Amino acid sequence: MSRAQFVDKLERVFEAKLAIAGNFAIADETSADSNQQQTNDVFSEKWDRHERSDEKERLDEFQREWYLKLYGFASEDALREYLAGCDVVIDAGCGLGYKAAWFARLAPHALVIGMDYSDAALQAAQNYATLANLFSCVATSRVPACAMAASITPVATR
Ligand SMILES: C[S@@+](CC[C@H](N)C(=O)[O-])C[C@H]1O[C@@H](n2cnc3c(N)ncnc32)[C@H](O)[C@@H]1O
Repeated sequence: MSRAQFVDKLERVFEAKLAIAGNFAIADETSADSNQQQTNDVFSEKWDRHERSDEKERLDEFQREWYLKLYGFASEDALREYLAGCDVVIDAGCGLGYKAAWFARLAPHALVIGMDYSDAALQAAQNYATLANLFSCVATSRVPACAMAASITPVATR
């Protein structure tokens, strides 16, 4: 599928017109909730440090291995096989999006949506702009709502 076809699908999932620039979408107004603002501040700082780290690739690899163990996949191929049956994959709280990008590479047929409240969502969009099936969204309350509406496979990565 082309990027334009994935965009159509993305809007169907959200049941709304989104503000989309390339692979970056804004699905929500910023919440006035002070806890969420604190989350944003803490994680924006954390992701900025991660992004500038010399050990970034090693840390990302560690995270992928941890994910496979945590969710009971014997190998990356087992995850690929699982994702083969998914049409839309949501990574809720995707951070810099390295796992969402991993899912997008393993499942090029699927629409993969990385959602995060923090500024990391924009960084994620920039980091993985070349994957046609991957979108990064700033979104908060929409996460459970659209997951239920579209019978999506939420793939937790927290
Ligand atoms: C512990 S980090 C995990 C990030 C990523 N999944 C990973 O494995 O590296 C949790 C992420 O969830 C995001 N988050 C927390 N509450 C959120 C909310 N209500 N809506 C969207 N994202 C949220 C944070 O901004 C943060 O980037």
